Amino acid sequence: MASPRRLLRTARQLTSIKTPLLTSQFPRHVSTTPSPPSPSPPSPPLPPKNLKPLTESQREMLSSFLRVNQAGELAATLIYTAQTPPILAREPHLRPLMKHMYDQEADHLRVFNSLIAKHRVRPTALYPLWSVLATGLGWSTAVMGKEAAMACTEAVETEIGGHYNAQIRELLKMVSEWEAEGYDVGEEFTELISTLRRIRDEELEHLDHAVEHDAQKAEPHWLLTGVIRAGCRGAIWVSERV
Ligand SMILES: [Fe+2]
Ligand SMILES: [Fe+2]
Repeated sequence: MASPRRLLRTARQLTSIKTPLLTSQFPRHVSTTPSPPSPSPPSPPLPPKNLKPLTESQREMLSSFLRVNQAGELAATLIYTAQTPPILAREPHLRPLMKHMYDQEADHLRVFNSLIAKHRVRPTALYPLWSVLATGLGWSTAVMGKEAAMACTEAVETEIGGHYNAQIRELLKMVSEWEAEGYDVGEEFTELISTLRRIRDEELEHLDHAVEHDAQKAEPHWLLTGVIRAGCRGAIWVSERV
């Protein structure tokens, strides 16, 4: 069986293939200029990939991944939206940081909105509840002060970083099983893994920013982060299922 390091490398190589569906619809030998036909024969089409169909449980797992990720990214955009005015009222120099983190969350939400629509996955039924709770969490921590707001980000991103890592591990396990059975791995699948890695890295970057901006000086830090982390775990568990 291939080592995890080798699988990571293989996944990276596969993710370097760009827009395969589009390029296969427009083969390279087609020219748009009226020049004489090229003497070289058209290149043969690539052989179709030997893809293993998803099992019902794999399909359900992927649907639950997309559902919970979309809910989480919606919550993240709402937390930052609610935090930004109270924080900037007292700490206007944090405007670029708050905007940077919000913009990344908005991009994450766009990614999962489009994946949910493309794969016809049902969004979480608790969307309205998560919206109210996320806005309340963002606003209340920001009113407590910059440190509490940053402790909120620290707690949320700690859970979310671990959550994305768990998903990536599951997907890499599927890849290694397919490869061991002699199947190819579809571009869409490797692209999903690469997208999750990018988003996971950006979440961990937010965690670093929060710690750099005094998250751990919040009072009481242990209680605040403990409660928020437990809330995140509960919300993740429920959103995967409902
Ligand atoms: Fe995010
Ligand atoms: Fe984030």
